[in-house]
Amino acid sequence: MKLSIFLLLAFLSVSNLASPKRFYITVGTDAVESLGKMKKAASQVISQNKDITLLEVNEDSIEHISHLMHEKFHRCGGFMFHEDLGEAQSELESTNREFASNSLFVNYDITQEALVESLMEKVEEGNIRSTILKLSSFHNRYYKAQTGVDSQDWIYNSWKETTSARNDISVEKWQHPSWPQPSVVLTIQGKSDDVIVIGGHADSIAGWWSREKAHAPGADDNASGIATLTETMRVIVESGYQPEKTIKFMAYAAEEVGLRGSKEIARAFRSEGKNVVGVLQLDMTNFKGSDLDIVMMTDYTNDAQNKFIGTLIDRYLPSVSWGYDKCGYGCSDHAAWHGEGFPASIPFEARMKEMNGHIHTDRDTISKSGDNAEHAYKFSKLAVAYALELDK
Ligand code: BES
Ligand code: ZN
Repeated sequence: MKLSIFLLLAFLSVSNLASPKRFYITVGTDAVESLGKMKKAASQVISQNKDITLLEVNEDSIEHISHLMHEKFHRCGGFMFHEDLGEAQSELESTNREFASNSLFVNYDITQEALVESLMEKVEEGNIRSTILKLSSFHNRYYKAQTGVDSQDWIYNSWKETTSARNDISVEKWQHPSWPQPSVVLTIQGKSDDVIVIGGHADSIAGWWSREKAHAPGADDNASGIATLTETMRVIVESGYQPEKTIKFMAYAAEEVGLRGSKEIARAFRSEGKNVVGVLQLDMTNFKGSDLDIVMMTDYTNDAQNKFIGTLIDRYLPSVSWGYDKCGYGCSDHAAWHGEGFPASIPFEARMKEMNGHIHTDRDTISKSGDNAEHAYKFSKLAVAYALELDK
């Protein structure tokens, strides 16, 4: 007995020696370079946004960092100390979110009237309708099901075909390490690397058990959003328009299981330092449940971009009515981008309390929207205006 206690104590002290306790600090990004120069700080950047950086540091270095912050930046302390990584990460995420809601990322002047009007005219309701019908004909588009892989193949091939005459456009499958369904990303390379993202989730879900086998047509949630952005893409691509900024169309995997596809993509964009100047999320665009046509969600979105989209509707779609509501939680992929500090918006089909009640069941078919895509058609025109007006 005594021997085992002795061995345990010996083991604990040796393992303590082997790995000294690590702590986490969040510090102003402007101060990080100087910290890195300090050998004793032994600090390692874990993640970073424009304002703050999360570092792993060893216990001894905390005093040095404190001293340095005081000397160089005249900040008392100048950093926040966190005992565990989870707490440190939520601190970073909350500054990301504040930044993503309130910052002004671009100039939102409206200057492309002639171009926008001529391309908006090319949007066809019939194309949106047939994409919704095709996508909802898969038994389901569940992230773990073979049919969820097949439906992404269909989107990939269809986007490839639309863009085959353009060598400035690429279509790629984004493989996710933990499940079989890829996301699909189409890139129109612009003169600059500033990025505009127009996205929606391509997966669908229904039932509570054996979801791999459940019938989940997901016509409104979210074949409608994918069909809407596919038509926007077709119109822009076929016009021969060559953008200033880089425009990306995305069909995300695995949204219905916690925004998992878009979270991986948004995190990669943040860590690669990509300058995403706008994200438009299209999730549920074809069920007209309210007197308002388009409802902008104010939470997990960027205030200035939401106003810009309102102005676009007033200017280019004067017969379309719009207003504001809240999801009340991170209800779709825009929240993943927002969590990484990027400006996102989600123009939605109805007020929250009046949205399509058939989603996540085998009754989510286009018949609930009168077998047409008239409602989504407005969103596709809006997305044309959004892409072109942001691209300057
Ligand atoms: N399209 C739905 C939900 C939705 C509702 C979007 C209202 C926008 C406004 C989306 O696909 C979904 O079902 N989201 C989940 C949350 C997600 C984090 C798994 C939900 O609402 O339960
Ligand atoms: Zn959805």
